[in-house]
Amino acid sequence: MNEDGSLYAETCDFQKQDASCILDMYSRLLKWGDGDHVMDVGAGEGSVSLEVLLPKLPTNFKELVLADVSSKLLDFARERCDDERVNYRQMDISSRTIPDEFRQHFDHIFSFYCLNWVVGVDENKRAMKNIFDMLKPGGDILFTIISSTPIYDFWENMAKSKRWENYSNNVNNLISPYHHLNNSAETLRRPFQKTAVRNLSTTTPKRSGNIPRSPFFKMAPETRRFSCRTKFLSLVLRNH
Ligand SMILES: C[S@@+](CC[C@H](N)C(=O)[O-])C[C@H]1O[C@@H](n2cnc3c(N)ncnc32)[C@H](O)[C@@H]1O
Repeated sequence: MNEDGSLYAETCDFQKQDASCILDMYSRLLKWGDGDHVMDVGAGEGSVSLEVLLPKLPTNFKELVLADVSSKLLDFARERCDDERVNYRQMDISSRTIPDEFRQHFDHIFSFYCLNWVVGVDENKRAMKNIFDMLKPGGDILFTIISSTPIYDFWENMAKSKRWENYSNNVNNLISPYHHLNNSAETLRRPFQKTAVRNLSTTTPKRSGNIPRSPFFKMAPETRRFSCRTKFLSLVLRNH
């Protein structure tokens, strides 16, 4: 992924809008306590975590950990916040082990638009297991992924054409592992079957109004007309 934090910060209006909408929709399902530990997986340069999630946390939370595979993006995030309860942790969520101190440590784990980047089947399974293993009994998970979008079809078709094939070697690393599945919601939920599922929904937030304002779509105007049919999946789970 691109690790330019300032470019992401400039162009993530609708990630922030969606995360805000999703938190408003689902936060009533989350069980808040006193001194909760919170993690945001795939926090990147911190816009969503610090501008959307942090202000919506109850004031008595104990800790918010921004986790990301990119230390460069985390450095960018660190520069933006001086709240002592916010910590930063470089970690690959699909790695074979999780830090011991994080085992059953978090009351709430959030993740916005990260798990669709964990494209290998085994890596994706491990990511789900790691998230679950970091959760306290009674804790909850709220995550959102891009399940499918015509933009992925567009990239795949470009990669097959003579004109673009040389620029498209890594196209499979860009495509959500859920894109070609008919039952993406079920597949997403499967690794958590031993947990009590509180809510599962497939949402397509109406956000086309903001799209023309994004510099990303100015750079790639041909993708603008596809983006409205993007399908998102949000999942809220509670550990027994
Ligand atoms: C599209 S950005 C989302 C950033 C932020 N959550 C948001 O909603 O705007 C995806 C983030 O996931 C991170 N990421 C991708 N694969 C990861 C992995 N295996 N472990 C941890 N973070 C990962 C990327 O570095 C990137 O910061």
